[in-house]
Amino acid sequence: MEVRKNGTSTKALYGLAIALDRLAEKLRSNKLLVESIQAYENLLSYGKNIPEMLYKKVADRCINRMRFKGENARAITIHKALIEKFPTDVNFRNNLTITYLIIDKLVSARRNVLDTLKKWPNNGLAKTLYGFILKTSDNNIEKSVKYLKEGIESREPGVLDGRFFFHLGDALLRLGRSSEAMEVYETGVKEGFFLSKYQRSLYNVDRLTGRPWWTKEQTTYKKFFDLLEENWMNIRKEGLSLLNSKGLFKDEAENLIDVGDWKQFELFSRGRKVPKNCKQAPYTCSLVEFFTPASHCRRGQIKFSVMHPDTHVWPHCGPTNCRLRAHLGLKIPPKTFIRVAESTRTWTEGKIIIFDDSFEHEVWHNGTETRLILIVDVWHPELTANEKQTLPAI
Ligand code: OGA
Ligand code: MN
Repeated sequence: MEVRKNGTSTKALYGLAIALDRLAEKLRSNKLLVESIQAYENLLSYGKNIPEMLYKKVADRCINRMRFKGENARAITIHKALIEKFPTDVNFRNNLTITYLIIDKLVSARRNVLDTLKKWPNNGLAKTLYGFILKTSDNNIEKSVKYLKEGIESREPGVLDGRFFFHLGDALLRLGRSSEAMEVYETGVKEGFFLSKYQRSLYNVDRLTGRPWWTKEQTTYKKFFDLLEENWMNIRKEGLSLLNSKGLFKDEAENLIDVGDWKQFELFSRGRKVPKNCKQAPYTCSLVEFFTPASHCRRGQIKFSVMHPDTHVWPHCGPTNCRLRAHLGLKIPPKTFIRVAESTRTWTEGKIIIFDDSFEHEVWHNGTETRLILIVDVWHPELTANEKQTLPAI
């Protein structure tokens, strides 16, 4: 086919791209999706010969389809072309920042958002995105509050996102401004981002029963938890001996520690065995492996958790309401506590406590000896078999 660079041919190309796109969705065909993206890209390469409105529309859809396919890096060229073509439209700059964030290019994201703020110092989304970077990547809590707060308060398109409310509340809390944090969380509930002011997970199945603390009976997994309790001495022996090998336990990596030292040794993660680690903990792994609501829980982990004296873990929420979290006490010195929502408990050696870690929880070790527990996540018992198979892993 000869393609001339005029209205007729671009129109024809557009028709082709749209047809491929629609068919790809209808047939859920990856091959057609690839072809439709190519057709959009092809069309965009005609640049000046395409009416501006059409160019924007095509570029927008092309980026959308690339995101859907997980090809965010490929969208950068299009973002940049849009910025060059429409230099006065701040949205195209913000969209580029978002893509950089999705693909974890934080240096580029920061550079781009600062550049955006230079030209549009009052843009709400740019402020919010910069605040998000300051909070999650730079750990500049104080400055992040200013930008997240002003950004969210602008209520401009794009700023009403649970993640921004989550991090603004967390930042306020860490600065000791807890009543302001609670206000942010309450607004987040009203906006539909959080299940409740304490239950602030962002990857939820909405109908599931949510309560901070669970009994073994309530989980429906009592037999399994009884089995763990019956064998706790052997689990403890294994966990304690692992502690003697330097470097096995890894530092908590989510920036949740206020002060202290908290490390973990992972046996299962996202429904899969960690073979290297299970070789070092064969007893515990074989004990939990057969129980698939735990070992196949793609939204959880099974891990030893060691906490040293003088540690405080900031109040935080897990990412999803699809799991419940059991703690088996293995070595529990005095003056160690965990608060979930409004009630605080401690561990007992050989006993399980169960909570829903999508609720805000906070941990203290004010004692003098190492504390060791085994953490076992299990699927929420109200999920259907189909959900357990198809929910994306976390
Ligand atoms: C958790 C947690 C665990 C611990 O299990 O989700 O935050 O090791 N704390 O005290
Ligand atoms: Mn936690």
